[in-house]
Amino acid sequence: MRTLITNIKELVQVEYCPKLRAVGKEMARIETVKDAYLLVEDGFIKDFGPMGMLAEQTADRVVDATGRMVFPSFCDSHTHLVYAGSREIEYCDKIRGLSYEEIAKRGGGILNSAKRVQEASEQQLYDDAFLRLEQMIDFGSGAVEIKSGYGMTVEAEMKMLRVIRRLKETSPLTIKSTLLGAHGIPMEYRGRQEAFVDLVVHEMIPHAAEEGLADYIDVFCDQGFFTVVDTDRMLEAGAKYGLRAKIHANELAYSGGIQCAVRWNALSCDHLEYTGDEEIEALRGSETMPTVLPGAAFFLGMVHAPVRKMMDAGLGVAMASDCNPGSSPSTNMQLILSMACINYRMLPEEALNAVTLNSAYAMGVSRELGTIAVGKRADFYITKPIPSYEYMPYAYGENKVERVFLNGLEV
Ligand code: NIG
Ligand code: FE
Repeated sequence: MRTLITNIKELVQVEYCPKLRAVGKEMARIETVKDAYLLVEDGFIKDFGPMGMLAEQTADRVVDATGRMVFPSFCDSHTHLVYAGSREIEYCDKIRGLSYEEIAKRGGGILNSAKRVQEASEQQLYDDAFLRLEQMIDFGSGAVEIKSGYGMTVEAEMKMLRVIRRLKETSPLTIKSTLLGAHGIPMEYRGRQEAFVDLVVHEMIPHAAEEGLADYIDVFCDQGFFTVVDTDRMLEAGAKYGLRAKIHANELAYSGGIQCAVRWNALSCDHLEYTGDEEIEALRGSETMPTVLPGAAFFLGMVHAPVRKMMDAGLGVAMASDCNPGSSPSTNMQLILSMACINYRMLPEEALNAVTLNSAYAMGVSRELGTIAVGKRADFYITKPIPSYEYMPYAYGENKVERVFLNGLEV
């Protein structure tokens, strides 16, 4: 099956020598082809270039993109997409002045979602998450990482992971699954946190790994949640089963989480509001992708991670939606792109690299996704008529995506 997209006003983020991630100054560079064509064969990118170079082609389908641009699909490398119910009441509590940690202490927050997930049927969780995946596709995402973490018991965590497995089997999106057994401390384990860590180490990790339910392992390593000592124990147990880490770190304090992530050669460490010189130094030269979650910082009114400082130090930065009911109830990666520019003063090029190539790296798929390159999978979207690629982050809040292709097929 060959599909030819013609008369593309601008084909954005093409790569001739694909790299696995963009770091430092590379982040400010993207390449584009104006008045371009894109040829897809059997789900992969076969060729692209200026219309003037288009040789006589036989294609099963020709799509005329006059006036429209083509971008590689967003990769959303950090989400908690499987959940039950919403938490707008806590959102109002926050407006009234309660902090995230205060709400968590009262049994709200993550524990509130955990109770609902424990009570929900697998079918209900699947149906709700599938709808969210459809929204994501409409906003231009092509790949998504989904975490467990609202289970808190072995049974409920495995239920969440089975839902993610079913989503993998039934959705056209590329999905990676992460076991986040240590997301919060259940009430019955308060004061004996080590016993809960034991449960994660001796039961959750072996179960998830033996059934092939998880690609990665995550821990909420932060003040008031899990310590570096706890995290070391869980990441070590995960590593024994080949589960690479992608951890929540330094959202609430200088928790040591970033250094811990680097020590375990984590694929990513995420949030990073509290990142100082020591943390940046630890990340330099590592394979760990710093991942910032602008939606959560916006929604919770937090300090902003020092993204410019990180890039100046030669680091790459990825960004993701963190879609979840407590701190970022949105599936919209276009909004994340805009927040990158508005709140973190990133250039559109830097922001685009953060939500595509680098976020693909942060979920382990940048060899096959994240840019427009020959041999990569054909995941891309065609925009509505727009004047320039800078318009994508500029026109925040509106959906600029008109048509979506995943694995070369229109969705
Ligand atoms: O990534 N920070 C920890 N976990 C989630 C929030 C989960 C929740 O509040 O339900 C996050 O923001
Ligand atoms: Fe998260």
